[in-house]
Amino acid sequence: MIQPHSASSATAADNSEPGEIVPVLRPLLPLADRILPYLRRIDETRIYSNHGPLSSELERRLAEHLRLPQGALACASSGTAALIGAILAATGRATSERPLAIIPAFTFAATAAAVEQCGYQPYLADVAADSWMLDAERLLSHPERERVGIVVPVAPFGRPVPQEPWRRFRAMTGIPVVIDGAASFAGLADRPDRFLGEIPVAISFHATKVFATGEGGAVAPPAAVANAVCDALAPFGVEVNATPIRPEQLVRALKGR
Ligand SMILES: Cc1ncc(COP(=O)(O)O)c(C=O)c1O
Repeated sequence: MIQPHSASSATAADNSEPGEIVPVLRPLLPLADRILPYLRRIDETRIYSNHGPLSSELERRLAEHLRLPQGALACASSGTAALIGAILAATGRATSERPLAIIPAFTFAATAAAVEQCGYQPYLADVAADSWMLDAERLLSHPERERVGIVVPVAPFGRPVPQEPWRRFRAMTGIPVVIDGAASFAGLADRPDRFLGEIPVAISFHATKVFATGEGGAVAPPAAVANAVCDALAPFGVEVNATPIRPEQLVRALKGR
């Protein structure tokens, strides 16, 4: 199990006086003593590369915590990187016919930066007054719908985005959806049946998040991503039938065709 670190492990004294600014959030990363055994394992194995044993173990334990099948979660170097990877795998870069990415007007700058990195023009849409999230039903009749290449709903204040309305939206419009669930780790873990599914969810492990590694992120579950990779490679005669999908495995499959 992944244990979010408890408040009792903090060493910094709470010095706030009455009337002083009360922080909305105070990052609480594991103390050095808890991290040290993992650093020792790195020293012993001298494996520092991507997809090393610690990263694989983290993916395995996260999948277990979120009640996903093994291999159904991929780690990334940040929440932004997870979002970019999920967008590229779910639909690819923007096209001249569909240059727009609908994102909520209420979000963090990284959502817009991620869609821009994939070539999309961010198109801000209002959030619903009661949920602070994009409303899938309302977007069905969006005047620019025919020019939209992707929709990226965001989990506001870490409240996770339900899968079902977006699964229906995608089925009705054919427009891919990737959820920016940067701060929603705790909510996802509470109800994975409601908040994880066919629509990929990008998560951040930045120091300001409930489960934090300092910098880091993940996409869960990448089954939809795997499907997109399979579809893209099918015309080349390459069949992918296992996850996680590794770049070196794809190169081998393409070379050996
Ligand atoms: C809504 C949202 N999206 C994306 C990100 C980016 O995550 P990261 O800082 O891990 O790249 C954040 C980070 O705070 C966020 O709040």
